Amino acid sequence: MWLDVKESEFMLNDEIKNKVLTDYQETIKFVNRNSKSLMHPTFSHHSSMYTFTTEILSGYINKLGLRDKNVLTVTASGDQILNLVFNDVKNIDGFDVNTNAYYITQLKIAALKSLPYEEFINYFSACKSFEDAVFVEKKVENNSDVFAYNVYQKFSDKLPEDAKYYWDLLYKEFNYDGLNLHDSVCIPSDKDTAIFANDYLKNATNYEILKQKINNVNINYYVKDILQLHTLSKKYDGILLSNIYDYVVSDWYGVISAEDFNSYVQNKLSNLLNENGTIQLAYKYHYKTKNVVYGSTLKKLFASKYKIDVNESLNKLSYKKILVPSLIEEYRKNKEMDCVYLYNNSKKR
Ligand SMILES: C[S@@+](CC[C@H](N)C(=O)[O-])C[C@H]1O[C@@H](n2cnc3c(N)ncnc32)[C@H](O)[C@@H]1O
Repeated sequence: MWLDVKESEFMLNDEIKNKVLTDYQETIKFVNRNSKSLMHPTFSHHSSMYTFTTEILSGYINKLGLRDKNVLTVTASGDQILNLVFNDVKNIDGFDVNTNAYYITQLKIAALKSLPYEEFINYFSACKSFEDAVFVEKKVENNSDVFAYNVYQKFSDKLPEDAKYYWDLLYKEFNYDGLNLHDSVCIPSDKDTAIFANDYLKNATNYEILKQKINNVNINYYVKDILQLHTLSKKYDGILLSNIYDYVVSDWYGVISAEDFNSYVQNKLSNLLNENGTIQLAYKYHYKTKNVVYGSTLKKLFASKYKIDVNESLNKLSYKKILVPSLIEEYRKNKEMDCVYLYNNSKKR
């Protein structure tokens, strides 16, 4: 069925065309997989795409001193890359174990180049608030603009040809029903969190500034596991590892121990850093939370107000922590915080 997409429109060479076809077919296989985890997302070579970040990037990217520097970052939803561009980073390499992170990032960049502010947000966000997305499960039903095909048509000519071929195939597969396409291949995001989390979405002015800056950057993409990054032969001033730590280091489904992760960073990954380079090691949700105390009024009165979720192993490796407001608005009202751990190859731990 996918061969119906007008191939004559594309000047892709056979090698690239075959790669895109494989990416498309593997994405459909992933969508139709038999078992789906209820506990955590599955990350593979062709898994679901994040439409927006799940980190408060506005709370830390501008504090890393990366202006005009070389940066390696997770590709994910493309938001790390877009915020780096907004903060005047000119050379960016994206890595992700998921090939589809490349396609969603190209979709974001093409949309940015063509759409006005509101239309961009409505195209990528499934609903208005975090509660709608997570707790009430309203998800995509309450935003008919999400992935709307008529909106896609406004900017698809700005996509690189491989990404246009991929998205055209997917729209065809889902009978041009954007809502269904989005719900099948994306992890839903909400508008309020997207605006709070991203400097470039703070207001229409910032968005227009990014529109100008996006044409003057050099971005490369690698399909790589976090534990393969040391095989890159480049040097960077900053490396952003998102919250991948939570998925590779864990008692339940992790692949390495906390000690092995630390020695990987110190002995291998840090070799990619220029002098005084920084690695954003981990992003920990719910680092500083309200201590809910049960018992007598007296006990409640003397109880400490907040509890801190200390990670001893990350503490040993990092030289600095940046606390950022919680991802969840309800928790932000309580002044609860998430935490970003930083490693620096020239500063003492
Ligand atoms: C960890 S997820 C979670 C979302 C993230 N907090 C954000 O704000 O974008 C981000 C990305 O990491 C990628 N990822 C997960 N495990 C990985 C690994 N072991 N190596 C490389 N990328 C990985 C996923 O494919 C996904 O695109």
